[in-house]
Amino acid sequence: MSKVTVVGAGNVGATVANVLVTSQIADEVVLIDIKEGVSEGKAMDINQAANILKLKTRLIGVTNDYEKTNNSDVVVITSGVPRKPGMTREELIGVNAKIVKSVTDNVLAHSPNAVIVCVANPMDTMTYLIHKTTNLPKNRIIGMGGALDSARFKYFLSLALNANFNEVEGMVIGGHGDKTMIPLTRYAAYRGIPASTLIPAEQLATVAADTMVGGATLTKLLGTSAWYAPGAASASVVAAVLGDTKAMIPCSALLEGEYGESDLCIGVPCILGRNGIEKIVELDLNEEEKALFKASAAAVHTTNAALKEAL
Ligand code: 2OP
Repeated sequence: MSKVTVVGAGNVGATVANVLVTSQIADEVVLIDIKEGVSEGKAMDINQAANILKLKTRLIGVTNDYEKTNNSDVVVITSGVPRKPGMTREELIGVNAKIVKSVTDNVLAHSPNAVIVCVANPMDTMTYLIHKTTNLPKNRIIGMGGALDSARFKYFLSLALNANFNEVEGMVIGGHGDKTMIPLTRYAAYRGIPASTLIPAEQLATVAADTMVGGATLTKLLGTSAWYAPGAASASVVAAVLGDTKAMIPCSALLEGEYGESDLCIGVPCILGRNGIEKIVELDLNEEEKALFKASAAAVHTTNAALKEAL
């Protein structure tokens, strides 16, 4: 029996729950929110859809009742406010840090052995906050940003290549910020063929630029931040953990010397399995990529420094 708790029944949290149910990733899912009735309503709606689709996953929605989350294997934290058009993810730190801290305390009191997947923004800093305020082993805290950013990269790449998006490969490392993410164009490929040999360098640079502002573009179109891809990306991380798949997914992980950095969480390729982040894969970055990574890490450190005032 696998059990997943999703904290926050907003657009992203409800989508995570929906994907966990429709893709039959977990046996039992608890959707919890502080707002009376919202998680119950969303769970009821998803369950009615599940009935039509003849699905088995058991989903319950609860208001603030952490007892119901007892002994979850994985907890996905989507709590906090999303950004509005024109806002950066970093601007959310003041509101979201307190929420993420109190949610994490509640979650761990009921599921002391859970793997935590952090979705709340600013995602790398919230992942770092969870490390700093708990004594959990570092493998059990995963920030999901790179999974989402890599999906956006592959989407724009498939458009540029006019290719089936299941046949393109692409990875985004670095921070989950408009200016800090690093789409690794050198590793981008179409059926193993380097993308750099298939489209002009300027077009590949445009793909990277569109990826970096992918979330901001959606926020402008939707009036709030995106949820379908963030929800599916978070569920893909849960699936890798519960299924012990050893999938390589870029995620925000605590670095202790890898990539020449320490004391921060930032996107790097991770092997995910039942123990969470089972391995950080160290890519052989070239000088330009190393410089981008260093600048990205410096920006994430700056946001982390603001945590002290935010808490
Ligand atoms: C995004 O990029 C929610 O940060 C998330 O859409």
